[in-house]
Amino acid sequence: MPKILVLNGPNLNLLGTREPAVYGTATLADVESTCREAAKAHRADVDFRQTNHEGILVDWLHEAGAAAGTLGVVLNAGAYTHTSVALHDAIKAIAVPVIEVHLSNIHAREPFRQQSWLSPACAGIVIGFGIAGYALAIDGLARTAPARAGAKP
Ligand code: DQA
Repeated sequence: MPKILVLNGPNLNLLGTREPAVYGTATLADVESTCREAAKAHRADVDFRQTNHEGILVDWLHEAGAAAGTLGVVLNAGAYTHTSVALHDAIKAIAVPVIEVHLSNIHAREPFRQQSWLSPACAGIVIGFGIAGYALAIDGLARTAPARAGAKP
């Protein structure tokens, strides 16, 4: 079964209690269920992870690049989105498509959030749809996989 890696960065383990007015009340476990449901519709498996450490995200991206059968990566890098050249480079270094996801609309927030170092390296971005954005990203990866593989749509 093809696999989709869903990677979550710093502070996303606190979803549900963290700034609910911005991020909602759904927990990271709810995000995981949403991802599994979305992937099931495409007969894909989800490997769902969270870390507060930038280098671990880099390692996981490399792992995705080396693994056979990985359809793509859904990445919410949290605050590292706005700071990390290392993540930008890691995304560029792997052949697997990476979709950047944010729960909130980062462009409608503080100026320091309005720049993403990841977007230019990503295959797509889904921003501002709350946890539904993860399902949209998985759907997008699955729908575009045949075209990426060179098949007619
Ligand atoms: C976030 C947006 C980031 O600016 C922030 O640092 C997060 C969450 C989002 O999902 O909206 O941790 O990535």
